[in-house]
Amino acid sequence: MDLKGLKIGIALTGSSCNFSKVFLEIEKLKEKGAELYPIISPSVDTFDTRFGTAEEWKEKLQNITGKDLIATIVDAEPVGPKLNLDIMVVVPCTGNTLAKLANAVTDTSVTMACKAHLRNERPLVLAIATNDALGANAKNIGMLLNMKNIYFVPFGQDDASKKPKSMISKFEMLEDTIEKALNNKQIQPILL
Ligand SMILES: Cc1cc2nc3c(=O)[nH]c(=O)nc-3n(C[C@H](O)[C@H](O)[C@H](O)COP(=O)(O)O)c2cc1C
Repeated sequence: MDLKGLKIGIALTGSSCNFSKVFLEIEKLKEKGAELYPIISPSVDTFDTRFGTAEEWKEKLQNITGKDLIATIVDAEPVGPKLNLDIMVVVPCTGNTLAKLANAVTDTSVTMACKAHLRNERPLVLAIATNDALGANAKNIGMLLNMKNIYFVPFGQDDASKKPKSMISKFEMLEDTIEKALNNKQIQPILL
């Protein structure tokens, strides 16, 4: 798909174990000509983990997108009225953020950006990665599946024997999911 000139909001939340896979997909979108607007949640802004420091990931994201990172609720508020994105993706989307989105909680840069973007009635794509997808968060995923303008990158269980409630998105399907969502369609099958 030719992404030239397409304005895509790229929101990252704190599933740092998936960042290396996710960054490959962000790079692909950029190479195909998309204009990327990076948004990071407070955990991405601050967590130094065994998967890398916050500064390392932030520098990388800034280099790929060529844009300043949106990291506060105040900076995320104009995403709807001013940025006018064609589409926004939350990749990876934590259990924490998806629970907030399902319940209209707007207390981070990412949830603020999602709310501001949805106001424009444009598509929002979620790429979930959470250990409680089939547990405490199952009801929230169910609610989001039934909400207007929200689409999912296909997902499935990643380690059914060791993490029976965990589900993770097929991040490599991000671009295909975006293509469908721009036509107001959910890519299928959604469960893989
Ligand atoms: C190393 C590390 C890895 C994590 N991985 C995940 C994950 O894959 N999925 C998830 O839902 N939460 C994960 N978390 C927990 C979230 O970072 C935590 O819930 C945080 O509050 C999320 O905030 P955010 O959604 O605003 O980014 C992880 C935390 C750490 C420290």
